[in-house]
Amino acid sequence: MVKPKIFVTRLIPDEGLAMLREVVEMQVWEGELPPPRDVLLKEVRTIDGLVSLLTDRIDGELMDSNPRLKVVSNYAVGFDNIDIPGATARGIPVGNTPGVLTDTTADLAFTLLMASARRIQESIDYVRAGKWKTWGPMLLTGQDIHGATLGVVGLGRIGQGMAKRAGGFGMRVLYYDVNRRADLEKSMGVTYADMDTLLRYSDFLTLHTDFTESPRHIMTAWAFALIKNTAVVVNTARGPIIDPQALYDALKTGKIGGAALDVTEPEPIPLDSPLLTLPNCLIVPHIASASVATRAKMAQMAAANLIAGVRGDKLPTCVNPEVYEKGIRK
Ligand code: DGY
Repeated sequence: MVKPKIFVTRLIPDEGLAMLREVVEMQVWEGELPPPRDVLLKEVRTIDGLVSLLTDRIDGELMDSNPRLKVVSNYAVGFDNIDIPGATARGIPVGNTPGVLTDTTADLAFTLLMASARRIQESIDYVRAGKWKTWGPMLLTGQDIHGATLGVVGLGRIGQGMAKRAGGFGMRVLYYDVNRRADLEKSMGVTYADMDTLLRYSDFLTLHTDFTESPRHIMTAWAFALIKNTAVVVNTARGPIIDPQALYDALKTGKIGGAALDVTEPEPIPLDSPLLTLPNCLIVPHIASASVATRAKMAQMAAANLIAGVRGDKLPTCVNPEVYEKGIRK
């Protein structure tokens, strides 16, 4: 029997590749960087399924380059790299990897919050630079986490994970979400606030909204003007949620206390970005879901979606289930 052909745009953990090997004939792009656009377009022309990463742009041009392409399985929970309405219109189901990375991402978001509050990067740099001469009453004083107010923007799975962690640290939790969650207000003890109130009262603000083109930036100069001047902003969602120039100005002029970013706009952040010159801006390279166990589970989910897709079965985790009513590509 002829096996379906697929292309995997980066080396993903073997837990997923082993599942795929059983069912499909696959080509894996083994470069450290994503396949260049022309390579991706060429590879897509002959395949039945694609395992993509958030660094691959999956648009109409790509989907039209092969009418046999039956499934796109994104190795990520986010899918802002994919034209979802375009995929649905063409009858292509798109898979993602929700759930398995929730706690790992919330762990990193809370790590960033704590590291920023207690000035961990500055402290490490201070020691390494040989500046530690004695114990000092005012040396590298930071902010308390216990007793502080955490503002959660977007109370989805990861936002809830942050609220849970905050509870363990004795924080008060405010949240803003387009959908008010009375059930969670009761079960988790979180309090709904409109965006203005959330900005005004949060000591720490953690962002967990989806990225949409409009409005592109949620955290603008307007938001930074409302926020406490000691507040720390944590972003593990998507870089473009924050206007980088407004963030720089707010940090530089003391309108906010600090920022801790796992994601930036653009990504990777250019080495000459002024944000990299600020001691109160901590930046890590989009590693929120990067634990060995979670990346393996993501690989298994991406493989399961891909396999279902090439077989014409429903994807276990499908971003655009409406595609099945419309009719999928055969
Ligand atoms: C995602 O899955 O969307 C994250 O940004 C990377 O794991």
